[in-house]
Amino acid sequence: MSKKNTPTPHNAAQYGQIAKTVIMAGDPVRVKYIAENFLEDPVLYNDVRGACGYTGTYQGKKVSVQAHGMGIPSIGIYTWELFNFYDVERIIRIGTCGSYKADAKLGSLVIAEGACTDSNYGKDRGIPGHFSAIADFSLLRKAVEEAEKQGLDYEVGNVMTSDIFYNASPDQGQWPKLGVLAVEMEAYGLYFNAAVSGKKALAILTVSDNTVTGEELSASERALGMDKMIRLALNLL
Ligand code: HPA
Repeated sequence: MSKKNTPTPHNAAQYGQIAKTVIMAGDPVRVKYIAENFLEDPVLYNDVRGACGYTGTYQGKKVSVQAHGMGIPSIGIYTWELFNFYDVERIIRIGTCGSYKADAKLGSLVIAEGACTDSNYGKDRGIPGHFSAIADFSLLRKAVEEAEKQGLDYEVGNVMTSDIFYNASPDQGQWPKLGVLAVEMEAYGLYFNAAVSGKKALAILTVSDNTVTGEELSASERALGMDKMIRLALNLL
């Protein structure tokens, strides 16, 4: 099977090699870990720029996992191509975030109902205002049901997708006052691309650090938190 535009300069996959649902993480090492530890018969379809992608099965269901790198420009490229060139229907991002709440537990989950941003990414479409980037409700509802079933510690709400990791000011600005739960760097780009493409998306995040107290997870604690998110995402298939 082949289709115009595939493979792309960023993705070596042939059309048809990628499943309708793709689980994405920023870090290629995490993606390899998911493929090797959770999927049956994973086949590598991409390694351009190290943004590895594998297709395999989970409990008999076809699924792909792929790396998206850091920040909106990076996730923007990969998800655009997956939605528009590879006809992917659903993308679930599993990542980390910095909580805006002093009492947030490290390792707990934030399921991103919506995403605010300081990025200009949405301006490209010439929208005469501000687009509210939201998760697909069917995926969101299923994630909440599954989080309940698994007894996970989670919150559902708005996140802030920032273009800057090393801000000049440690001040969190007005975001926490507006009820925004946490900061990360990709959800808005993912949700925006899903909206423009008429597709479905959800971001599930582990609280890896606390922007108020400065606490952060160790590398091994991050890995454990990742396993909870991976199981949650795979159970949405
Ligand atoms: N800022 C931005 N992105 C993040 C953070 C943060 O503090 N923690 C995890 N992802």
